[in-house]
Amino acid sequence: MHILHVVGARPNFMKAAPVLQALAQRERVRQTLVHTGQHYDFNMSDVFFQQLGMPAPDINLEVGSGSHAEQTSLIIARFEAIVVERKPDLVVVYGDVNSTVASAIVCAKLLVPVAHVEAGLRSFDRTMPEEINRLLTDQISDLLFTPSEDGNRNLLREGVAAEKLHLVGNVMIDTLVRLLPYALERLPKDIPERYVLVTLHRPSNVDDIGWLKSLFDIFLEISRDVPVLFPVHPRTKGRIADAGIELSNRTSPGLKIIEPTPYLEFLALQSRATVVITDSGGIQEETTFLGVPCLTVRENTERPITVSIGTNTLVGRDIARLRTELKAVLAGKAKRGTVPPLWDGRAAERIAQVIAQSQSGFPIAPERGLTTVGVPSE
Ligand code: UD1
Repeated sequence: MHILHVVGARPNFMKAAPVLQALAQRERVRQTLVHTGQHYDFNMSDVFFQQLGMPAPDINLEVGSGSHAEQTSLIIARFEAIVVERKPDLVVVYGDVNSTVASAIVCAKLLVPVAHVEAGLRSFDRTMPEEINRLLTDQISDLLFTPSEDGNRNLLREGVAAEKLHLVGNVMIDTLVRLLPYALERLPKDIPERYVLVTLHRPSNVDDIGWLKSLFDIFLEISRDVPVLFPVHPRTKGRIADAGIELSNRTSPGLKIIEPTPYLEFLALQSRATVVITDSGGIQEETTFLGVPCLTVRENTERPITVSIGTNTLVGRDIARLRTELKAVLAGKAKRGTVPPLWDGRAAERIAQVIAQSQSGFPIAPERGLTTVGVPSE
């Protein structure tokens, strides 16, 4: 069985790593790894491959940055040629980024079965590009691997056939469980006893300069009492410059802006943080697993389980609420949580099991694929 995986952006890599590994243990499985090149900086991509122990991609589509339409259409055009040439039996896509939906569309049109890892998550906010990517990918996938029960409920409500759904747990937590011991070895020696860790990159937070400035005001205010550490995503870096926000050791000694952090170093920082402020999806999950309080600067989340039973609090677009919640956590009144079911480090094994069993029973027989679009079969 030839399985082709597609990754493209930073949050895909830690999800694909355990699935590649689990499938490598299976007999008669051949794997191909395609990187779309959506993320291309060393800090955003290569260092993750190194730290996660992933094989180098067999193919890099090198699409780079662009508008959503440019990025998505370039992936579609370049990935189609790869699928036609390599004739995979199954294509596995991850998460909710542009690379995910673009490659799923290619497969749906070529009648090649698609498995979506991290299916069913919904923020119910269609202004988020990721929500569009999730909805479309799930509608055209043949195997849908969900991390939590709410994913199954969402998909059933959208009319996805129950036999396509598999509640397997959270693959991102597989990687966390495997690598946490190594991450802890990388804790900086001079790490403060207490600190606030910040990550922000969503357009809703960083593209609105007035709002971005008010977020920085509160980070500066808090940093007078507790150090604030902020690894900055390239998108955010650009917006900070556009907003004319100037930070230096002299004017804001407590607020440290650093380059995007590799996986192990970031995991180490999360595990010891007093509180994490974020708009990332994955970090809401990782903090819930680690039992670290998380304040999510968004109006909604596609990961409601991190709020209902985890350590996550949605603070919305409300500076006063952010300040109140932050002060409460720093005063020792943090929300406590539990780890959701099946977030146990074995989700990828379950995925490999389902894929192995489904081999003969894909809704689309692989041999029907490719030939139907006029591509000569071997
Ligand atoms: C993408 C995903 C988002 C995910 C995030 C994690 C979509 C729609 N969004 O958003 O779901 O949470 O990745 O990082 O797919 N850039 C660089 N170097 C890089 C990559 C990007 O400088 O290696 C710059 C680009 O030039 C661009 C900006 O960062 O200006 C945004 O990159 P892009 O991949 O388009 O979207 P993200 O905001 O990273």
